Parts: sequence; C-alpha cells; structure tokens
Amino acid sequence: MYTTGEKFRFTLFGRSHGPFVGGILEGVPAGFEIDMDRIAAEMALRKPAGGIGTPRKEDDDVEFVQGVRGGVADGNPILLRIANRNTDSSKYQKFYDTPRPGHADLPALLKFPNHDLSGSGQFSGRLTAAIVAAGAIAKQVIEKEGVRVDAFTRSVGTQNDRWVRVPEEARMSVQYPTRSCSRRMDTAFTECIEQAAAAGDSVGGVVECFITGLPIGFGGIWFEALDAELAKAMFGIPACKGVEFGDGFGLARMNGSQTNDAYRFKDGRIVTATNHMGGIVGGMCDGAPVCFRVAFKPTPSISKEQETVNLRTEQNDTVTVEGRHDPCIVPRAVAVVEAMAALTVADQMARGLR
Ligand SMILES: Cc1cc2nc3c(=O)[nH]c(=O)nc-3n(C[C@H](O)[C@H](O)[C@H](O)COP(=O)(O)O)c2cc1C
Repeated sequence: MYTTGEKFRFTLFGRSHGPFVGGILEGVPAGFEIDMDRIAAEMALRKPAGGIGTPRKEDDDVEFVQGVRGGVADGNPILLRIANRNTDSSKYQKFYDTPRPGHADLPALLKFPNHDLSGSGQFSGRLTAAIVAAGAIAKQVIEKEGVRVDAFTRSVGTQNDRWVRVPEEARMSVQYPTRSCSRRMDTAFTECIEQAAAAGDSVGGVVECFITGLPIGFGGIWFEALDAELAKAMFGIPACKGVEFGDGFGLARMNGSQTNDAYRFKDGRIVTATNHMGGIVGGMCDGAPVCFRVAFKPTPSISKEQETVNLRTEQNDTVTVEGRHDPCIVPRAVAVVEAMAALTVADQMARGLR
C-alpha cells in the first residue's frame, strides 16, 4: 500500500488484474455530503475516449465499503474500491523472460521474487482509477473553500497548443476526448495519436494544471512548500517524467528583470501583473493562479519490436508487446493530475498551512 498526505491521507492498493483496485481516504470531515454523480463524472473523464485509448473497457463503478452512509461521510476512513472485470492476462506471460523496456518489469522482477506481471501488476495505470475516485472527493472538499483545480492537455508529441490558456478554458476541455482546449487542437492531438498507433508506436505529452482560489500565503515552506508537495504528488503518477511551475526551465535562460512578477492593486486586491513563477514564491501562493505542467513519457508498451534481455537464457533478445495499451496516456492523465493536485491541496488545508 502506498500513502500520500498527512491529515488528508490517501492510501492506494490493488493490481490491474487482481479483483479490484482501491484506496483508503482519511480526513474527510464527518457529515460531509459527497456528490456521487460528481464522482461518476470524474471517473468517466479517466476512461479512454474518442477511440484513441486502450480497448480495455471497465465500468469503473466506485463501491464505498466503509466511511460513507447514504452519501454522507461518517468520519471513519473511507474505503473505496473499483472492480477489475475486463482482464486478459495471457499477453503478459512472456515478459517474465523478456521484460518490456521502459516499463517497470525488469526492476520489479529482480526486486520482488513473487512479482505478478499480469496487467503490469501494481505498476499499472489502472490504479489511477482509485486516485481519481479519491480526488473527486478531495475536489469537493476544497471547492467548499472556494478552491478549484482545472487541467488540460497542452501538447501531444510534437503538437503543441501555443495559446496562453486560462483556468476557464481548461475547465471546458472536458468536452474534447483529448482534453484539449479547442477543437483544432483536439483534431491535431487525435491525428498525432492515431499516427503513432498505426506505426505500432506511442507518444507522450504535457498536461497543464491551474489551481485557483487559494489565498496569498497558502502553502508550507521548505519541504512542505506547496510546489514541493505538488511536484512529489505528480511524480507519483506513473509515466510522469517532468514537472515545471510557471515558466519552469525557461526561467533559467532569463533575467530577473524579465521574470519577477510585479505586484499591483486591482479592485482592492493584490494581484501579479504576470505569472512567470506559476503563482508560488517561497512555497506559498503569491496571488496569481497556481500553474504547473506535467510531462508524460510515451506509453512504454508498444507493438514495435524492441531490444531487451532474456532472463531465462541470459542472452540478448527482442520483445514485441501485444494486448490493450494506450498509444498515448496524456488525455487520461489529465483527470489523474487534477486528482493528485486536489488531494495535495486538501492535505495542506487540513494541516493548516494557510
Ligand atoms: C492513466 C495511465 C494509463 C497508463 N496506461 C498504460 C498502458 O496502457 N500501457 C503501458 O505500458 N503503460 C501505461 N501507463 C504507464 C505505466 O504505468 C508506467 O510507465 C509504468 O508503470 C512505469 O513507470 P514510470 O513510467 O513512472 O517509470 C499508464 C499510466 C497512466 C497514468
């Protein structure tokens, strides 16, 4: 089991081809009314859509085993689970001998003597279903405090949305299967994913996320900094290989006179004139929307032949991957990024870091 958070704590468990994936969510106040339709809506956003994701279809109905009665939290840890119904383990057998490059097979097989590779075991993106379910509750908790999390797909492969986007546009991305901000980008992203899939290959991309409504000063400092904890949460998502806040790595090539976000009074409130810092300085919110980007690598399981080792013959070998895989995980990862961001903010709120 794997845990994130201190006071608003989430523990993840399960395997892709086990009976279920699930989680334990602690810190939801007793009496908190949970909108179950909202949970179903968030779960739908993680499902493959538009014919561009894995053919594996799951209902993703969330079952509350304890902690919720009649849609209301009872103050006990909430135990939720989601059944795995559509499993096919036959295509994973050969990876015991010839582990997939780019996936967790090799280190997991050498580290855990009894590792179950079917469906990629505990390293499967399937577990993110439980993250999204818990995140849907965390979103409701932080929205009561006026805080929202909205993400969208910024790029897929070489296709990049060059427009400056605002949180309202990110919110509208739910209407497009690729979670883009416009029909034009949705078409471009879809074509890019389809091209990769047709070539037996995969592509990665970037998810951009806004957090709005946080007061100036929200967040911890040093190792409890809001950006530090968000980055850790994002790197916990499988296939995440980079996180940047504001102009991120671009800041390293600029001067301070270009990057410092000027403070201004507007309608009696302090705002920043620009947002190069991504809304966080010193680990705390500076009045601008928090804005960060998460880079996802191309899906490791591809049907093109790849070089690997054979652990049985102890010779070099090759492997091709069959089975049902996402040629690009980015559209589905948008919901996961939002969920991890909401869980992180809910935990910092619960710890009083405001
Ligand atoms: C929503 C989601 C779906 C994923 N689907 C797949 C998949 O179909 N095939 C695959 O090989 N990897 C998939 N992954 C990525 C792997 O889980 C991940 O690359 C693997 O666990 C190795 O971890 P690492 O990439 O963080 O090093 C998915 C990840 C996410 C977040």
